[in-house]
Amino acid sequence: MDLLLKNMFQALGKSRSANRLAKKYGLRFGAARFVAGESIQQSIDAVRRLNEDGRMATLDHLGEFVFSAEEAEQSTEMCLLTLDAIADAEVKSNLSLKMTSLGLDIDRELCVANMKRILNRARLYGNFVRIDMEDFAHCQISLDIYRELREEFGNVGIVIQAYLFRTEQDVKDLGELQANLRLVKGAYKESPSVAFPAKHDVDENLKRIIKLHLLNGNYAAVASHDEAIVNYTKALVKEHGIDREAFEFQMLYGICEDLQKRLVREGYRVRVYVPYGIDWFGYFMRRLAERPANVWFVLKNMFK
Ligand code: FDA
Repeated sequence: MDLLLKNMFQALGKSRSANRLAKKYGLRFGAARFVAGESIQQSIDAVRRLNEDGRMATLDHLGEFVFSAEEAEQSTEMCLLTLDAIADAEVKSNLSLKMTSLGLDIDRELCVANMKRILNRARLYGNFVRIDMEDFAHCQISLDIYRELREEFGNVGIVIQAYLFRTEQDVKDLGELQANLRLVKGAYKESPSVAFPAKHDVDENLKRIIKLHLLNGNYAAVASHDEAIVNYTKALVKEHGIDREAFEFQMLYGICEDLQKRLVREGYRVRVYVPYGIDWFGYFMRRLAERPANVWFVLKNMFK
């Protein structure tokens, strides 16, 4: 049953027509639990609330299915405006983005040019930009572009997914660039020819790459709600005397709030990923696919 729901949510998240329909009707079915709002102002308000109890944020303007240079330009503009709004409001947040929303599927050079505009603006404000990792089809090109950008910019990081077989080698290679990496389990449906099908293997690989990256002296954002991963990281940094400034925990907006707050109270750096915008449907479907038990939460909201 869980697998059926998982596949259904993953397929819906990729459906252009379902996304278009959802956009028309605004945040529905309980999506507001996971998405901070549709406007920049709502997202800044959410960040301010997080900052009040010591949590930092990373804002993500949601954008999926970008197939024209104009749409890529609009997404780039929204990233620039988000950076401006963060600076104006003086809140503690950086920016996360998906390169497909900046034109990666249209023209590589267009995407690189848009990335450079965003990184230049972030640099102006002393801020940082994280490239989210999308499905396996975009992995190699995303890492290639990251390497190119890293030569010119110190304020850019990327995400690495523990479910991919290639990941350990990627972490070793990126370690040489002193890359700032967000380490996650991975959220997309991937073929068993490229990714570990069993959760246990993914969990073990995540632990392996956290250790590898931190012991190499590089900055890691450990992005997981899994207490076993959190506890593993705490024990690892304690054992090796790794400074608390050398890593942070990251979690998603609306998920495991108690754990987020507890970690802050314990003195760890915690950053919450705060998505916003009208293009919320694909993101919402990925969150449901991660935990099909959330379907009850959706049903409850449908009949409210
Ligand atoms: P796991 O799935 O084992 O969940 C552990 C526990 O967390 C669950 O038992 C449950 O309590 C809670 N939980 C997890 N997901 C939940 C959900 N959706 N709803 C309610 N509770 C939930 N992936 C990717 O491919 N590319 C990316 O760029 C990113 N970026 C990213 C940023 C940040 C800040 C986070 C936290 C995660 C991502 N991810 C991601 C998603 C990541 O790959 C993964 O799918 C999710 O974090 C779920 O895995 P966990 O590590 O939380 O463990």
